[in-house]
Amino acid sequence: MAGKWWQKAIVYQIYPKSFQDTNGDGIGDLQGIIRRLDYLQDLGVNMLWLCPINVSPMCDNGYDIEDYYHIDPSFGTDEDFEALIREAGSRQMKVIMDLVVNHCSYRHKWFQDVLRNPASPYASYFIIREGFGGKEPNNLRCYPGGSAWERIGNSNRFYFHSFAKEQPDLDWENAALRDEICTMMNYWQDKGVAGFRVDAIGNLKKSDQALSRTRFEPDGEDGLTSLAPYVLMQDGIQDYLKEMRDRVFKPHDSFTVAEVSVPEHKLLEFIGPDGYFSTVFDFSYTDIDVEERGGATWKRPWTFREMKEKIILSQMDVQKYGFASPYLENHDQPRSVSKYIPSRDRSYESVTALATMYFFLRGVPFIFQGQELGMENCPFRSIEDFRDPVALQRYAQALERGEDPEAVFAYLRERGRDHGRTPMQWDSTENAGFSEGTPWIMVNPGYVQCNALSQMREGHSIYHYYKDMITLRKKEAYASVLETGWFVPVETRDDRLFCYRRENDSQSVRVLINFSADYVRVPENLMTGEVLLSNREASENGRLMPYHAIVFSE
Ligand code: NOJ
Repeated sequence: MAGKWWQKAIVYQIYPKSFQDTNGDGIGDLQGIIRRLDYLQDLGVNMLWLCPINVSPMCDNGYDIEDYYHIDPSFGTDEDFEALIREAGSRQMKVIMDLVVNHCSYRHKWFQDVLRNPASPYASYFIIREGFGGKEPNNLRCYPGGSAWERIGNSNRFYFHSFAKEQPDLDWENAALRDEICTMMNYWQDKGVAGFRVDAIGNLKKSDQALSRTRFEPDGEDGLTSLAPYVLMQDGIQDYLKEMRDRVFKPHDSFTVAEVSVPEHKLLEFIGPDGYFSTVFDFSYTDIDVEERGGATWKRPWTFREMKEKIILSQMDVQKYGFASPYLENHDQPRSVSKYIPSRDRSYESVTALATMYFFLRGVPFIFQGQELGMENCPFRSIEDFRDPVALQRYAQALERGEDPEAVFAYLRERGRDHGRTPMQWDSTENAGFSEGTPWIMVNPGYVQCNALSQMREGHSIYHYYKDMITLRKKEAYASVLETGWFVPVETRDDRLFCYRRENDSQSVRVLINFSADYVRVPENLMTGEVLLSNREASENGRLMPYHAIVFSE
């Protein structure tokens, strides 16, 4: 599987709503991204993933698309997007879009027609079933909570939604719907996007059981049961994915990254040489701190050893068939600094050690906006500070059901999705240089110390360390081994250490990390070689300093 153009990609994820506002409405926009392209070029990334920018009522910040062919006015115009693709291209950066096709918005004209007209030809674009005893066809729970079925008007017909009720699922069984979607995807490819991050794609095929009149055994006190086992990775999904691959991805030689957890025995099919996608995300270590309990997600304790094991397992599995997309953060996750590093240990060294650990894994690395500055979770003061509808709904449900709202707030304060959505911290001026208006979500007060401008000026900063990592990955002498070399874990017999090699027939690079606040003795043979990168100037004989990270050439 050598020689794919995207193996050279280093992706920067932009959450457009929170990146840069240029018209003072408190919402980031495409002109704002254009304004910051020089910054991104200077950082060294060569591909931008934009979270959804299509017309949307923003019930889920754009993951609810009303019109697949146009740009939401809050972000700008269709011409702005064309300009962005052009301007990025002139700086050697490609753009990929977020492809949200498991569902659309209730405001999409197809769905509006269904609501108005029971005989609408578009009814077959959605999943609609008769009720059962005057109620929902079954008791499946959608991801954000509550029934996966919503009644249409006063009728006995219900539509299926895996996510919020404002996001009706599209019926992929329908060839006409698939045709519409592939045509739309080709439209954007022809406009110049290089591919897609493919949202919630494991959900496309629903099992017969999911849509049947069944009383499932409840897994929570709400009398419902999670829909996941009945809609995720169901047999038959391969036909839809093949169609996308053959009609869109192959003819355009796209880069695609799928948001789906793929078991080992299906990796060949998904990301092998003739796979549906270029790469897939791995959730195993980014969701290490959470678990499902009683129909909801809660925090769980975890250890660095467990994290290391998950990363090793995932790398070993994936490299048998293709490439991974290592990442630490995205818009659904809290900030990695806050998640993985105990508060007493947060420092330049610990943040860069964490970065070194994931950045040289095998695959196409992703950096989420602000991660390159070490942005931390936002100290949200109360539920009023949150904007994520999923968080707000969860809190409201807790109140309704007489559960402890404080427990939910405590969870959200650590784990809510809004931590990844507060404005990018550009400088120390008002609103972190994000907007001259009132930002749609609070600015993390940490911006006064943690911002791009000051880190760019300072030689010794997290920003510069990310830049150095990117430079190393691109360096001609090491590009080949770092892009396509095998991942080989190295046993250290110490749970605080993580060591791995990247190697090919002619070269070997060793990454060594002490993910602890201790001085740790390291076997002699692991400390040898030319130092390509280190997050500490000094080095001790035979010992790694706290949160010390070193990349050696062997
Ligand atoms: C995954 C996206 O990352 C998330 O933000 C969204 O809410 C769901 N898919 C539904 O589209």
